[in-house]
Amino acid sequence: MVSSKRMSNRNDQTRLLIVEDVPQVAQYIRGLLNAQQTVKVLDVLTDGGKALTQIGELRPDVVLVDHLLQGRIKGPQLVEKIHEAKLNVPVIVLTVPQNPVEVDPANGIHGVLAMPFSGFDLMNRISGVRKEFDATSSTESNRVFSIFAPKGGVGKTTIAFNMAVAMGQLGQKTVLIDGSVQFGDLRSLLKVPHDAPSILDLPTDRIAESDLSDVLWRDPSGIDILLAPPRIEMAEMITARDLDKILSLLRRVYTSIVIDMSSQINDINLAFLDASDTIVEIVTYDSTTIHNTIAMADTFRSIGYPASKVRYLVNRADSAGGISADDLNKALGRVPEHSIVSDGQLVVRSNNEGVPFVLADPDAAVSRDIARVAAELMGAARMPVGAGQQ
Ligand SMILES: Nc1ncnc2c1ncn2[C@@H]1O[C@H](COP(=O)(O)OP(=O)(O)OP(=O)(O)O)[C@@H](O)[C@H]1O
Ligand SMILES: [Mg+2]
Repeated sequence: MVSSKRMSNRNDQTRLLIVEDVPQVAQYIRGLLNAQQTVKVLDVLTDGGKALTQIGELRPDVVLVDHLLQGRIKGPQLVEKIHEAKLNVPVIVLTVPQNPVEVDPANGIHGVLAMPFSGFDLMNRISGVRKEFDATSSTESNRVFSIFAPKGGVGKTTIAFNMAVAMGQLGQKTVLIDGSVQFGDLRSLLKVPHDAPSILDLPTDRIAESDLSDVLWRDPSGIDILLAPPRIEMAEMITARDLDKILSLLRRVYTSIVIDMSSQINDINLAFLDASDTIVEIVTYDSTTIHNTIAMADTFRSIGYPASKVRYLVNRADSAGGISADDLNKALGRVPEHSIVSDGQLVVRSNNEGVPFVLADPDAAVSRDIARVAAELMGAARMPVGAGQQ
C-alpha cells in the first residue's frame, strides 16, 4: 500500500531539494536539469542548518546533499540528521572522486554521485533512488510491532511468534526479533542449536543487507527470526545504537517486523519501543495487570508517545482472573483494541513442540483470534497516525 499522497505524485515530476553551498556547483546542476520536465528543483539551500525544516515544509521526493557542505552542519552530519529525523525521504550524496562515499541506505545514504557527472547520470540516479525508496520504504506497508507487557508471563513470546507467522500468512514479508535479549525466549521456544547465529554476529559499524541473510534463522514456519545471544551475559554487548541501525535495515527488507520483548524498561527496550510504529501491550484480567498497566501508561505519556501508539490486547480473554472486563476498561481508560482467547492444551502443546499453533491448528479459536488480530494490526497500520485513537 502506498499513501494517497505518494500515489498522487508518483508518476509526476520528481521534486528535488538541493543542499549545496558552492554556487558554481548549484549552477551546474540547475543547468543540467534545465531542459527537462521530469525533475523539478524546489530550492537550493546553502545552509545545512535550515535543511530539516525545509524538508518538512517542502516535502521533496529526493534530497541531494553535498558531502563537502561547510558551515555549522557539515554534509555527513546533515545526512545523519535527515536519517535520524525519520523524514522518510531518500538522500543522494554528492561527492568528488578523491572523497569516496558508499551507498548505505541503513544510514540514510540512498545514492551517491561523484563529480563530474552528466545530465543523464544525474537524472538516472535521481529516478533510480526514488523508485527504489518508494518500493521498499513506504510508511504504510512497512511496520514495526513490539509485543510488550510490563508484567512477565502474560504470553508475549507465544503471541509474538504466532502473530509473526500469521502476518507472513497474510503475505507480509515478516521478520521476528527475539527482543528478550537476556533469556532469548524464542531460542528456547524454537529449540534452535546453541551455535545458531544471533544479533551479536551482525557487524556493528556498517551493516549491509547481505549480512542479514547470514545471521537470520529461517524457521520452517516461513518467517525469518533474528535470535538473541545464546548466553545471558552477552546481552550487555548489544547497544541501543546498534539496534537502531539493525531496525532501519530490517525495515528496508521486510514489510512487517515483530519484536518479542522482555518486561523491563531499560535502554534496549526503549530503543525497541521508540522504533516501533505500534506497541501491542498485553494485558490480562488480573489485578496486578491493572497496576502495572497504569504505571506503564504514565511512563509512555511522559516519554511523549501518543496514546494511539499503544494498542491493548487482552490475552486469555475468556478466562476469569479476579477482575472484570469493566474494571480493566476503566483502568485503561478505553476498551482494549484486541483480544485472544485461552487454549491451554493447544498453546502448551505447540509451544513444547516449537511450532506455531496458527499453522498446527488454524481452525482453533485461539488461532483464528491471532489471525484476526494480525489483520487488524495491519489494517490499523494503514490508518494515518492518530486515527483509531479512542
Ligand atoms: N492464549 C493462551 N492460552 C493458553 N495459554 C497461554 C496463552 N498465551 C500464553 N499462554 C501460556 O502462558 C505461558 C507464558 O507465555 P509466554 O512465555 O508466551 O509469556 P511471556 O510474556 O513471553 O513470558 P516472559 O515474561 O517470561 O517473557 C506459557 O506457558 C504459554 O503457553
Ligand atoms: Mg517471553
